[in-house]
Amino acid sequence: MDKKIRYAVVGCSNFGRQHIAAITKISEAEIVALCDIHPEYCEERQKEFGLSARFYTDYNEMLEKEDVDIVAVATSDKAHKPVTVAALKAGHHVICEKPMALFLDECEEMVKAADESGKLLMIGQVCRYAPGFMKAKELVENGVIGELYFVESEYAHDYMGREGVDNWRADPDREPIIGGACHAIDLLRWIAGNPTETMAYSNHKMLSDWPVNDTTVAIMKFPNNVIGKVFTSIGCKRNYTMRTVLYGTKGTIIVNNMDPDLELHLEKIEGAPFAAGQIPNVSEKTIKHLIYCGVNSHNVIMEHRTLLDSVIDGKPLETNGREGARTVAVCAAVVESAKRGVPVKIEYTL
Ligand SMILES: NC(=O)c1ccc[n+]([C@@H]2O[C@H](COP(=O)([O-])OP(=O)(O)OC[C@H]3O[C@@H](n4cnc5c(N)ncnc54)[C@H](O)[C@@H]3O)[C@@H](O)[C@H]2O)c1
Repeated sequence: MDKKIRYAVVGCSNFGRQHIAAITKISEAEIVALCDIHPEYCEERQKEFGLSARFYTDYNEMLEKEDVDIVAVATSDKAHKPVTVAALKAGHHVICEKPMALFLDECEEMVKAADESGKLLMIGQVCRYAPGFMKAKELVENGVIGELYFVESEYAHDYMGREGVDNWRADPDREPIIGGACHAIDLLRWIAGNPTETMAYSNHKMLSDWPVNDTTVAIMKFPNNVIGKVFTSIGCKRNYTMRTVLYGTKGTIIVNNMDPDLELHLEKIEGAPFAAGQIPNVSEKTIKHLIYCGVNSHNVIMEHRTLLDSVIDGKPLETNGREGARTVAVCAAVVESAKRGVPVKIEYTL
């Protein structure tokens, strides 16, 4: 390829840095512009990665002046929609961080802008690129654990000291179930399909100064009579985890994005000897197989490679705007259920 794919990155602090680190590792790509309302983050990244990008504090000015192919949006959540819509309208592909937006009508506007521009819109649902979760999906699809009957995932992350630049995470509009557990919900949707109904309970015992509840448990009805559960905590006293358990009629998968081994529990076949990697369980009725997957919980490089495959070769993009919006639709129903104390049907408008 003669000409490199030209990127602009908007939002250059914590996760913008992850995008910049990933893009700089891809030989077909280059970063030509950086934008942040706090220009010191552009300067930091420029130095850290030896870039020669132009800096902006106003994304509209950047979109007017720069001829780029892709805009990566890693701003605080509330800026996702305006930056994404402006970039799409200016004729650029966009990769926008999760959650796609805090409100469903904003997601709809973003999808409309993508449809009208004919440009690609990718949402950074990065769990779909974590090696353990990819393996888990493959095992389920190959029928290794039989038919699913219960799936659960969690987003347990202590937010103390992680408020973000200008304290944006501690926003009454940013429910943790949308901002954080969109990962767990997207993962279960990806593996078990679109849930149709949810009942959720929340409390507020950990982050007393936070403007919204810090803990939520949501039960959901998935297709094919599968029950699901998502636990969200942003004040928990433990290491970050997205432990996920998938129960099937022939076995169970336990996978955690921070653990290199996926556990596959399968029924023991009477008389069969234990092979390497098999550990007898206490029950003696199942065998635990450890499958090494490695830890890459934020596989942003694979996200960008996937996007480039679509931009360059026209491959279909799975984590697109519609998928991002469906995840936000589930999150919004969970928030509503916890607030109203009633089960809520999940409406998918896209
Ligand atoms: N995929 C993941 O696992 C993951 C992990 C962390 C964060 N995120 C997401 O990434 C995004 C950024 O999170 P973060 O932790 O980097 O936050 P951060 O506060 O460290 O960085 C956000 C940056 O955006 C800049 N910004 C805000 N509004 C802007 C605007 N209108 N124009 C230009 N710059 C603007 C801020 O100045 C700041 O530098 C959020 O949407 C967050 O939810 C995703």
